[in-house]
Amino acid sequence: MSGAGHALMVGATGMLAPAARELAGRGWRVSVLARRASAFASHEPVSGYDCDYYDEASFRAALARAVARDGPVGLAVAWFHDVKLAAARRLAEAVGEPGAPGRYIQVLGSAVADPARPDRLATAAAVAEGLDGRLLRQVVLGFRVEDGCARWNTNAEISAGVLAAIESDAPLATVGVTSPWSMRPGG
Ligand SMILES: NC(=O)c1ccc[n+]([C@@H]2O[C@H](COP(=O)([O-])OP(=O)(O)OC[C@H]3O[C@@H](n4cnc5c(N)ncnc54)[C@H](OP(=O)(O)O)[C@@H]3O)[C@@H](O)[C@H]2O)c1
Repeated sequence: MSGAGHALMVGATGMLAPAARELAGRGWRVSVLARRASAFASHEPVSGYDCDYYDEASFRAALARAVARDGPVGLAVAWFHDVKLAAARRLAEAVGEPGAPGRYIQVLGSAVADPARPDRLATAAAVAEGLDGRLLRQVVLGFRVEDGCARWNTNAEISAGVLAAIESDAPLATVGVTSPWSMRPGG
């Protein structure tokens, strides 16, 4: 997965920070969109664009600036608290270019794996509906079970798992486990 283009990340000032660093180290031109992106970029090998993804205009403007500087988005890594946000769709639309579809790595919380809500993964996938069907890769953040005790993934585990999912290019990957669902921390 050596870098060959522009990777744009949402959530990279948080749990995906190690992944942003790693992608930059592999040669990707990494853009980070977040409210504190420029502060983050002041000490990381990435370009930062301050925006609020609940404000579509703000997000659109940041996206446009990133594309103007580093070209079409070949790889988007997206952690949105709400997958139905207009900003998530705007990002999916910005991925790829004619002849090179690009990939949208949709990072999802464990709630999408709730066996009582089998609709949630498909609902999340709607972000890429009508776009090239090969774009979307979903990564579900699960939990870990150690010595009979469950805990959430650490940020390092989340970033490593997302990078592994990018590498494998599987349509659906899980970081940790989501079963037995009854062991989900706090569940
Ligand atoms: N199943 C799991 O293992 C799992 C799932 C979810 C969370 N977690 C854990 O819970 C911790 C906290 O989760 P978290 O959701 O707060 O994730 P986080 O990745 O630590 O922080 C949220 C990320 O989204 C960005 N963001 C948030 N609101 C934004 C907005 N309105 N506009 C633009 N960017 C925005 C933040 O950047 P700015 O603040 O700079 O805007 C930051 O990069 C994580 O660090 C992780 O360890 C675990």
